[in-house]
Amino acid sequence: MTNRWAAWLSRNGTESFHLARKEGWDAFVNAAARDPLERLDRRQLAALTAEEREDYDEARMVWNANLPTVRTPQMIDAYSVFEQVMASSRRDGDRQRGSVVFDAEAGRGKTTTVTRFARDLHRRIYRREGPVTAEGHQRLPVAFIPLSAGMTLKGLNQKILEFYGHPAATRSSTTTSLGALAVDCVLSCQTRLIVIDDLHFIDFRHRHGIEVSNHLKWLANEMPATFIYVGIQLAEKRFFDDGLAGEQAVYAQTSRRATRCSLSAFHLNSDAGYQVWVKTLRAFEDGIVLADAHPGMLTDHAREIFRRTQGNIASLTNLIDRACYLAIATGTEAIDADILAAVTTDNAATISAAR
Ligand SMILES: Nc1ncnc2c1ncn2[C@@H]1O[C@H](COP(=O)(O)OP(=O)(O)OP(=O)(O)O)[C@@H](O)[C@H]1O
Ligand SMILES: [Mg+2]
Repeated sequence: MTNRWAAWLSRNGTESFHLARKEGWDAFVNAAARDPLERLDRRQLAALTAEEREDYDEARMVWNANLPTVRTPQMIDAYSVFEQVMASSRRDGDRQRGSVVFDAEAGRGKTTTVTRFARDLHRRIYRREGPVTAEGHQRLPVAFIPLSAGMTLKGLNQKILEFYGHPAATRSSTTTSLGALAVDCVLSCQTRLIVIDDLHFIDFRHRHGIEVSNHLKWLANEMPATFIYVGIQLAEKRFFDDGLAGEQAVYAQTSRRATRCSLSAFHLNSDAGYQVWVKTLRAFEDGIVLADAHPGMLTDHAREIFRRTQGNIASLTNLIDRACYLAIATGTEAIDADILAAVTTDNAATISAAR
């Protein structure tokens, strides 16, 4: 027998968007927000049958693990840089466009920020221009290309073709012809924004890495699209920097065209920093579904939560997921100091908190 929580789960269960393919990207862009999940108090919880309770707890776990994205000041700043660079994307196709190098430490919310921005752009362009181009091709305003370890030149072209669902993605063609096909896809689908995520997988000191990096520059010249390159420590890895081995002039040129953008961690060094942290915790707190959830449940522990996570948003969301799980599993039904003490944080957060 299904109950209403099982029904909620079947409509709102964990989604597995495969953003690296146009179908998955499209599903992500068009996904409706989850239906709100009712908060039951302790009396209502006690009235559930065992099965209803099991399904309700599962529904709460899904809900609490997918709290709405918080528009943090860091994210708003990054959006502003993206919008400024995209302003040049209105240039006619024969003129050079800019690019963004979105460079920030692990788990700062790079992918979250850039995919939300790209999703909004996709929706805006669709609304205005419709799903089909004048030549009858599917319109794909955004291409999202996440890289993986050991990326080669050919692998990069194949990834791009895979996004577009081009049959040549799996065929053994030459690198040059794959590159030309990738350019065709971008032109025919009128893609305006190309996001290359996890660029740190490329080792720019290695021959393959330099090849890939040069190819990215070639693509940026050939494709009338704005690029956002996303990765960790790209500055240290000297991605797109002047003076890297080889063609210095090419690097200098690219550096002029690229705009750097970062995402900082939260900090408590000033009143303003503290306020931003508390506001972010409050936004998460408001969304959490537990029987005894209450205002202050997270914000009262703002300093302790900061110590445990060092103001890193990935560590914070991990901590919240786990604290919610423990609150349900132990019957505490709220997040308190004991629950926080019992949460195991991620490796980096644990090591840093112990220092
Ligand atoms: N503004 C936000 N609001 C809510 N949750 C967020 C926000 N930004 C990031 N997160 C959460 O933090 C976690 C890490 O975010 P994300 O994967 O975007 O970071 P990243 O910088 O791309 O990480 P990596 O370096 O591992 O690629 C995710 O679970 C994400 O849901
Ligand atoms: Mg990421």
